[in-house]
Amino acid sequence: MIEINILKFKMKNFKKYVYIKTFGCQMNVYDSILISEGLLEIGYELTENIETADLILFNTCAVRGLAEHKALSELGATKKLKTKKPDLQIGMLGCVAQNLGKKILKSYPFVDFVLGTKEMYKLPTYLNYKTDKARLEVSLDNKIVGYKTKKNLPNSVSVFVTIIRGCSNFCSYCIVPFVRGKEESRNIDEIFDEVKILVGNGVKEIVLLGQNVNIYGKDINIKLESLLQKLNEIDGLYRIRYFTSHPKDVNEDFIKSIKSIPKICEHIHIPFQSGSNRILKSMNRKYTREEYIEKVNMIRDYIPNIAITTDIIVGYPTETEKDFVDTLELLKVCKLDNIYSFKYSPRAGTLSYKNLEDDISKEIKEKRLEILNNLENEISRQINNSLIGTSQEVLWENLKKTKTTLDIKNNFTIEGRTRTFKKVFANTSIQNAEKSIGKLEVVEIKKATAYSLTAERK
Ligand code: SAH
Ligand code: SF4
Ligand code: F3S
Repeated sequence: MIEINILKFKMKNFKKYVYIKTFGCQMNVYDSILISEGLLEIGYELTENIETADLILFNTCAVRGLAEHKALSELGATKKLKTKKPDLQIGMLGCVAQNLGKKILKSYPFVDFVLGTKEMYKLPTYLNYKTDKARLEVSLDNKIVGYKTKKNLPNSVSVFVTIIRGCSNFCSYCIVPFVRGKEESRNIDEIFDEVKILVGNGVKEIVLLGQNVNIYGKDINIKLESLLQKLNEIDGLYRIRYFTSHPKDVNEDFIKSIKSIPKICEHIHIPFQSGSNRILKSMNRKYTREEYIEKVNMIRDYIPNIAITTDIIVGYPTETEKDFVDTLELLKVCKLDNIYSFKYSPRAGTLSYKNLEDDISKEIKEKRLEILNNLENEISRQINNSLIGTSQEVLWENLKKTKTTLDIKNNFTIEGRTRTFKKVFANTSIQNAEKSIGKLEVVEIKKATAYSLTAERK
């Protein structure tokens, strides 16, 4: 703490700019905000122009080879900036940093520091030292030290809050447990205080994050339901969302209790990954397609209008046409509102990588992805079409700056979401648009596509 104060003092006369680029999941977005807060505290300002930065940070994702490759190629491109500006500091943070640590320092010698997923929070303290040699910190044992409050929050309506870090599931294909360490729940009071501060800053919706939010609190003897009930009491908070839910950990008690908590939105993200029992077993997912269908039915029995979304991997090693058809069939039976689909990407260190050859060609993976997405487009189009003519509560989140209609008076578009996480657009005048952001409004749905709804304001 003392060190931070000294730096604050030292930097008073200099304006230093930090550029942060975030890759990967929402938890990384949250982490980048935490890190940037720490930097703002010691005198940095954020810049969106990499050329003007004194400090460049990449907060990276290693979940698929492509994500890792993107981060490394952007890192490589900063070399020329460093040549022009020798004082420039460049740091690699997060999951790729954790995964490739030493290799990054070796292959990219111009990089000043590599901080893994538990060390990156200490960045403001590290910057306090004169860094004359590259630092590498990638331990997974350190407890994350306290969280900062959200004083410098970007003016947002909906904000992510990580409630559980790491993952102890070890799905065979997945690198997350290796780069993020074991499940660790955040303290319930700490989360509550943080959300209260957020709401005090104008936030209306919080999205609680974890690789598997349903086991929040297992390690500290608390239930997710208790946290949700506590957050529901916060005045001024309109909506609570949470994801991701692992199918094996969603049970009837949980669904009953979320039904009874008014601010929790009717949306659940439960990745099924594959519809083939043989593949699910090999993935170490710990449920069958039949159990998944049962859970979906149970959820819909309690909350009939709930939206359900999922993640699916195609081209997992040994996936046959029949296995893939099982995936399509599962999607058809469950009629899910949206899917996030991925081509299998072998990740060194994981069980699938060790034991199975990546034997499905790129062409087959791409073809399967296309077929899957076409099917989902049809399903989401049907679901969204069924909403035409209904009234929906929307929380307006953003003003779209581009003029999108020929209607001279109402030529601004605002975007928001229904409680079921569906994107809604409405045309409005600029005065009304600005006033609407952060407000709830019941609108009538006039048009629908597979991806969004268009509303008319009453
Ligand atoms: N914890 C969540 C999601 C983790 S990562 C869960 O259990 O579902 C987000 C998604 O990336 C996963 O759901 C999975 O669909 C995908 N994914 C993870 N590892 C992958 C890999 N090696 N190749 C392709 N997709 C992968
Ligand atoms: Fe990866 Fe499985 Fe953990 Fe999700 S639950 S992060 S897919 S290991
Ligand atoms: Fe990627 Fe790390 Fe998130 S690997 S998905 S950024 S936890």
